[in-house]
Amino acid sequence: MHNLPAVLVGPVGDRSSRFAWRGLMIDSARTRHTVPVIKQVIALAARYGFNRLHWHLTDDQGWRFDVPEYPRLTEAAAYLPRGNFDDYDSLLGDTRQRAIDEAPEKWTNGYYTDDEIADVVAHASAHGIVIVPEVDVPGHMKAAIEVYPELGRPVGLPLPEGSMREHMWWPARNDLLWPTDAARDFVASIMRRVAELFPGPYVHIGGDECAYQQWSSDPQMGEWLALRGVSGVEALQAWFMDGAASVLKENGKSVAVWDEACEIWDAEDTLVVAWDEARGMERIGRASQPYIFADARTLYLNRVDPDSPQPQKGMIPAISVDDLLTAPWPETRDERCIGIQACVWSEFVLDGADLTSLLFPRLLAVAERIWNPNLDVVQAREAIARECEVLKAFGHLDTPTVTPDEMVMANGT
Ligand code: ACM
Repeated sequence: MHNLPAVLVGPVGDRSSRFAWRGLMIDSARTRHTVPVIKQVIALAARYGFNRLHWHLTDDQGWRFDVPEYPRLTEAAAYLPRGNFDDYDSLLGDTRQRAIDEAPEKWTNGYYTDDEIADVVAHASAHGIVIVPEVDVPGHMKAAIEVYPELGRPVGLPLPEGSMREHMWWPARNDLLWPTDAARDFVASIMRRVAELFPGPYVHIGGDECAYQQWSSDPQMGEWLALRGVSGVEALQAWFMDGAASVLKENGKSVAVWDEACEIWDAEDTLVVAWDEARGMERIGRASQPYIFADARTLYLNRVDPDSPQPQKGMIPAISVDDLLTAPWPETRDERCIGIQACVWSEFVLDGADLTSLLFPRLLAVAERIWNPNLDVVQAREAIARECEVLKAFGHLDTPTVTPDEMVMANGT
């Protein structure tokens, strides 16, 4: 970044890191962060030695890039109204209500045009950061299914008995693609498109939180399983992942997945991003693939910072700088662990100011863990505080202004 003195945390002096993947995940599906915000985050992350931006671009609440064969994705799925996340618990105080109140002024949706994606990719590349786009299959597909209902649960088929909460450990419905030809073609098209838009070697294909009960409750599912030549609903998820991966491989890409997928899909050459707390750490313990350590208990920075001077909107339990500096993280010592990644989900992140407040100072503590394996907590804490003062003094923690073009996009016009 321009004008800044030598960095005080992370890649200081001649430090090196054993971690090839130094990642930050940003969720632009729940909030379409503006391009200036994404570019600022990239520039700051690069200063602290991060080299991967895992960019979550599709989810139940929004779709963020153009796929010419499926125009309703950008005409409609990019402009769904913001939900209230009523099912979410584990929120700090009045997070949900504050987000509802603030959204009309702050929240942006829409999609990234091809030119904007090329601009972000080039900016990232100039900063030594590879973009790893994520399109999450076969779950978390509600936005696409809302505009192309033929991709999902047969219309009119009742939902499984009982409350959704009893049925799945994730509170949202987490709509799944159905194993139809339409959904198979859709997956192939979106993967071809992602491969075209993003030059980096990796595409993340999700695979988290599939509520199999949804598939099992379809009386036709036995026929579907037979047609697809698979033994059960877990194998059906693997069928979807295979479909996505084969298109990506034809296009020269490697595949990354969330840790749930490594349990049901034994593709050897995938990279696993391990997020799911104790369950996730057990899964990678049983798996053989290389993995990225992104344990939600310390690395989900959408969980609030208890020391934040500003009131934050976010999840609990809180994660402090000291938690990050002192967590044991035994999984990071395994040689299969090739990286560490912080993640910020955006259900309650409405704008750049919200994002910056969650990232700083804690991203600096993550950088210290990545670059300084023998860190001294007192020294690291001081260096982080001084570095944050530098960032503030140079105005780098101010939110970039939204350009007029982006306001047009934000308003959906
Ligand atoms: C995740 O947090 N569902 C990857």
